[in-house]
Amino acid sequence: MLKLSEATIEDVNILADIEKTVFEYDLISIKQMRYLIKSSTAQVVKAQLPDDTTVGYMVLLRRSNSSILRLYSIGVLQEYRNSGAGRHLLQSAEQLCDNTGCDALHLEVQMQNKEALVFYLAAGFSLYGRKNGYYTDGSTALLLRKHVYSEVRA
Ligand SMILES: CC(C)(COP(=O)(O)OP(=O)(O)OC[C@H]1O[C@@H](n2cnc3c(N)ncnc32)[C@H](O)[C@@H]1OP(=O)(O)O)[C@@H](O)C(=O)NCCC(=O)NCCS
Repeated sequence: MLKLSEATIEDVNILADIEKTVFEYDLISIKQMRYLIKSSTAQVVKAQLPDDTTVGYMVLLRRSNSSILRLYSIGVLQEYRNSGAGRHLLQSAEQLCDNTGCDALHLEVQMQNKEALVFYLAAGFSLYGRKNGYYTDGSTALLLRKHVYSEVRA
């Protein structure tokens, strides 16, 4: 069973290492990861196996007075993919969105990242725009969102 918990400053190196293995460019550096973990507008969540091996993480951002929670980054180590870790993290992001009064989760995904696109569409996200040349390699970002609104709040 996967355990999700908020990352602490002790996790900086392991999370930055995972980031390096799952992304080729526009990486979150160790310095940025440290800043995000300490920031009150960011939430960094790690996913661990019962033996405490960290297999993935996500970074969520929320501006003050905004009803949108932004999924800034999510990654699962290659050898642990396709076993539900990503979905688990995403469901926790939706729960957090709902619990904190947000209306929607927003994210950007590289147009060529088929694996991630299938992952988000399967989770109920929909396309609402694109940004040409968004990434440092010049590639296009697709903008996806999912409205999150529980019956309890309705
Ligand atoms: C995107 C990512 C986080 C998904 O994590 P994961 O743990 O492999 O995802 P899950 O196992 O929870 O998959 C959930 C669903 O996504 C879809 N999916 C995930 N990987 C897929 C693949 N390679 N091909 C097709 N569908 C896939 C499936 O619908 C799957 O549901 P199923 O298990 O019922 O078939 C992971 O592939 C990753 O870290 N990629 C590299 C980093 C990245 O691109 N992050 C997103 C940046 S925007």
